[in-house]
Amino acid sequence: MPLPSLLLFCRPGFEADCGAEVVERLAAHGSAAWCRAVPASALVEVRLADGGDARQAMRCLRLDDLVFARDWFAGLPLTDLPATDRITPVVAAARTLGPFAGCLLQHPDTGEGRSVGRLCRLLQARIDLALLDAKLLRSGAGERLHVLFLEGTRAFVGVSPCANGARWSMGIPRLRLPGAPSRSAAKLEEALLHFLGERLGTLLRPGMSAIDLGAAPGGWTWILARRGLAVTAVDRGALAPAALDAGAVRHLREDAFTFRPGRAVDWLVCDVVDKPARVAALIERWFLDGWCRQAIFNLKLPMKNRYRDAATLLARLRAVIEAGGARVHCSARQLYHDREEITVWLRVE
Ligand SMILES: C[S@@+](CC[C@H](N)C(=O)[O-])C[C@H]1O[C@@H](n2cnc3c(N)ncnc32)[C@H](O)[C@@H]1O
Repeated sequence: MPLPSLLLFCRPGFEADCGAEVVERLAAHGSAAWCRAVPASALVEVRLADGGDARQAMRCLRLDDLVFARDWFAGLPLTDLPATDRITPVVAAARTLGPFAGCLLQHPDTGEGRSVGRLCRLLQARIDLALLDAKLLRSGAGERLHVLFLEGTRAFVGVSPCANGARWSMGIPRLRLPGAPSRSAAKLEEALLHFLGERLGTLLRPGMSAIDLGAAPGGWTWILARRGLAVTAVDRGALAPAALDAGAVRHLREDAFTFRPGRAVDWLVCDVVDKPARVAALIERWFLDGWCRQAIFNLKLPMKNRYRDAATLLARLRAVIEAGGARVHCSARQLYHDREEITVWLRVE
């Protein structure tokens, strides 16, 4: 059954960027589309021109290649859901789409949306049971069912491919980092889990070395040191005792832009708050000079046209490094723990 809408979850305030990115990517694959991106709704609805099928359109994109979308599915709207029985119409719609490997009940990541979250938690077990009774849940199925409640009476029901879907429902990881010196620690932890995934233990291992530029108060240093890396933390500001005590950590009170490592390191991480072009130029130099082979860094997005400017900056960064002779892999994402910024993973292949 054709599904009319592609639904994308993003950070509230970034709907226009998320919509522009997806519409442009679809156009590059020959699919004309338009989007409805209500400001601050944390959701984008993309419709294919000429009644195109969003499920089909998803096949020519990879969620991991999108910067601003945290989760997605192809779906259809359900309206006027009766408060006394929302499950029957949801399961009826699901019958036209299944079977599924699982079912995700979702809501927009806004204050209003989170109040619908309570309804989702109440309904989850009952919907799972109804889907089991209808023989719609099957291990090994290639798609997951999404039920996105906009409010108690309105929802979208649809599917995402298990192999091309979000790592965490709605793109929200539940991380517990007790004792972390800063809230930023969650950004790097999420970045490692998101970008490196199953290769995390291979690509980032005890005994490796890392430089953390703009390290204070030390959340990123703490994450790396706890994973057994020897970390040089560069920041004029003070490091929290928890970071200094987390493992093999030394602190240098130097400027991130003029600091030179004595020798090459395995990892560079950088959370310096500065103009994105200046940070990108700094990262470029580290790769061109062979001072690191992998980096995770943050680009603040103070500009107006955030999608376009970020895409231009990343394309340039990659082109400059590759012109220097190295082939690099580059992934970027506005992570759940990012604010007005995106996080980038760059790796020499
Ligand atoms: C967002 S904070 C970093 C937070 C850190 N990643 C953490 O997890 O705790 C940005 C840091 O960049 C530092 N910074 C900004 N410009 C810098 C520069 N030119 N050289 C060194 N550090 C700089 C600031 O002192 C600040 O501590």
